[in-house]
Amino acid sequence: MRIIEHPIIEFKRGRKIHFYYNGKKLEAYEGETIAAALYANGIKILSKSLRKGRPRGFFCGIGKCSSCLMKVNGIPNVRTCITLIKEGDVVEDNDMVLPEKEYPECKFTKLNTDIAIVGGGPAGLSAAIEAADYANVLLIDENHRLGGQLIKQTHKFFGSKKEKAGTRGIEIAKELEDEVRKKNIKILLNTSVIGYYDRGYHFLVAVDKMNRTVYEIKAGKIIFATGAQENMLLFDGNDLPGVYGAGGVQTLMNVYGVKPGNVGLIVGAGNVGLILAYQLLQADVEVACIVEAMPKIGGYFVHAAKIRRCGVPIYTGHSIKKAYGNEHVEGAIIAKLDEKWNFIEGSEKDIKCDFICLAVGLSPTIRLIAQTGADILFINEAGGWVALHNEYMETTKPGIYVAGDLANIEEASTAMLEGKIAGLHAVIEFAKNDKTKIMEKIKEYMEDLEIFRQGYFGIRPKIAKEKIWRKYHEKMGNRRNS
Ligand code: FES
Repeated sequence: MRIIEHPIIEFKRGRKIHFYYNGKKLEAYEGETIAAALYANGIKILSKSLRKGRPRGFFCGIGKCSSCLMKVNGIPNVRTCITLIKEGDVVEDNDMVLPEKEYPECKFTKLNTDIAIVGGGPAGLSAAIEAADYANVLLIDENHRLGGQLIKQTHKFFGSKKEKAGTRGIEIAKELEDEVRKKNIKILLNTSVIGYYDRGYHFLVAVDKMNRTVYEIKAGKIIFATGAQENMLLFDGNDLPGVYGAGGVQTLMNVYGVKPGNVGLIVGAGNVGLILAYQLLQADVEVACIVEAMPKIGGYFVHAAKIRRCGVPIYTGHSIKKAYGNEHVEGAIIAKLDEKWNFIEGSEKDIKCDFICLAVGLSPTIRLIAQTGADILFINEAGGWVALHNEYMETTKPGIYVAGDLANIEEASTAMLEGKIAGLHAVIEFAKNDKTKIMEKIKEYMEDLEIFRQGYFGIRPKIAKEKIWRKYHEKMGNRRNS
């Protein structure tokens, strides 16, 4: 299951180590996650549903669902898709009962910071880089490395040179991380923020589960850049191991060099689905077909043409009706849709595949921002529920900012710009003589954003943003935060 040769990525695997899975000794490499190591060993059932005991494989691969929870070294409910494997780890199925005590003998650490940034993806990193020139910054991420979803993006970015067009996502992640590490920024990795509390000041609780450490964080301001999560689709058998989010497959394949299976079916012919199909082919994985419910392909024509040239059929006006298999995907039934989105009887096709990737959009991950009391509204064009915010990315809760996919599902390039704006605006009060300089920089980034949203793919995000701003100003009236 491991990818040995790849046209773009050179997998630098760490030292060979051993771990135990349900008592069996298995091999892994340092630097990979527990879930990746299990997949490389052919183990695809990571958990069971609580009530019916149905098998679950990994879905999101980035710590946002719960299908990979396992017991590791006696600690229950560990998200194995974001936890690194260590020599001698004991990995077991979770107990099917709630543990009596989650954190025996944990250590409490108090931290105080001007700016706390939650999320080390393109938005969070960009915010940290800008803010660190004027204030002390604490950057928290639940992954073991920085970069967010950029670390799996092997394609070159479109857009302007200024926003790193022509550079691959994995290289952008490295550049941003290098910049962050040059600055005086405190970084907490492997640490999940689990709660926000208003104590008259902003207060966060964060946990490094494997090190049994709880952080109590007092922050002057907080920038939430928690990104987005993959959407699920309703169909029979959608919980079978082997039904993955497209991003989960990219993580497994492009970051850890593990194949998700031998033959895949992709649902969704937007840019993500099309790019993923090409990446699977690069990794020597067969793509049976792509199905797209809309009558037309949603992504760039250039990507679609490339996929078709490689012999992959794209069925528009089709969707998936059912996934089947015994404890794992063995195939899927797809069918044509009528104009009312109902399946047309008799149009079914049986597609033999051992995994299915859902590339049907993302929703902002609002679990934390929703705890702050900032106003949240469902805005379809933004991808779902979003926190209202102004042009400076500040929400209706003073001192609480959002940036990136959490603020509207868009591109990594716009996430970086929004992060810069949020980072600068959050530190304006610390800037003393540089306030004018900061406002000029913010204005420049706003203009870049405006240009970015002028293209065809910018129409929807632009509508979303205008709604978000309008609703923010209706709510705040003259009581603007900025
Ligand atoms: S949380 Fe691990 S697969 Fe989703």
